[in-house]
Amino acid sequence: MDKIGVIFDLDGVIVDTAKYHFLAWKKCADALGFEFTEAHNELLKGVSRVRSLEILLDIGQITLPEAEKQKILTSKNEDYLAYITKMGADEILPGVEKLLDQLDALGIKYVLGSASKNATLILNQIGLYHRFFGIVDGNAVSKAKPDPEVFLIGAKKLKLPPENCIVFEDAIAGIEAAKNARMLSVGIGNKKTLSAADYNFNDLTELPANFFKELVVER
Ligand code: BG6
Ligand code: MG
Repeated sequence: MDKIGVIFDLDGVIVDTAKYHFLAWKKCADALGFEFTEAHNELLKGVSRVRSLEILLDIGQITLPEAEKQKILTSKNEDYLAYITKMGADEILPGVEKLLDQLDALGIKYVLGSASKNATLILNQIGLYHRFFGIVDGNAVSKAKPDPEVFLIGAKKLKLPPENCIVFEDAIAGIEAAKNARMLSVGIGNKKTLSAADYNFNDLTELPANFFKELVVER
């Protein structure tokens, strides 16, 4: 029976920070004079901050010099920080703590694998930082999802081969990254959007109690 490990995405799996990213990016779009909708915001899920700005500017059909882009990136993050520094444990998504308890009880280690450079701050805000065996965030990688780098570093931290790792993700780019890393993937959210995942659930409360036990037996 092989040992397994879990890698969790943060935004959209552990907390719903997409609404704060949306407000901060919308302020940038407003200042630049074009509309940025919730549907546009979907395109930024799982995507790095720099890539998000490129997508935003494409939506507005705007080209800016590098120095301007840097200014926008800085002010967007300042606005985003104003939201996330107010976060607390009440913003942990349903089913997360129960799932971590279940993994602890089974002796299955878990690490974070997030594109966010604010991951440590957010995990501290919600009081879950200490529970993770390791953190791989946007500061640790040079290539963004769908590149598998973030998850492969996660597997190294777990001291497990990639094939023994299971990734929980809410973004298409994240499911692709898990596939590129040859890991099992669990899509959290819309099943149609995340149809490439090996397993799908609307949220973590839907995960069957025996999910990991059965996985361990199967492998
Ligand atoms: C991902 C989010 O987790 O982190 C993206 O899904 C976000 O929407 C990315 O752009 C980078 O986040 P941050 O906190 O470094 O700006
Ligand atoms: Mg996510």
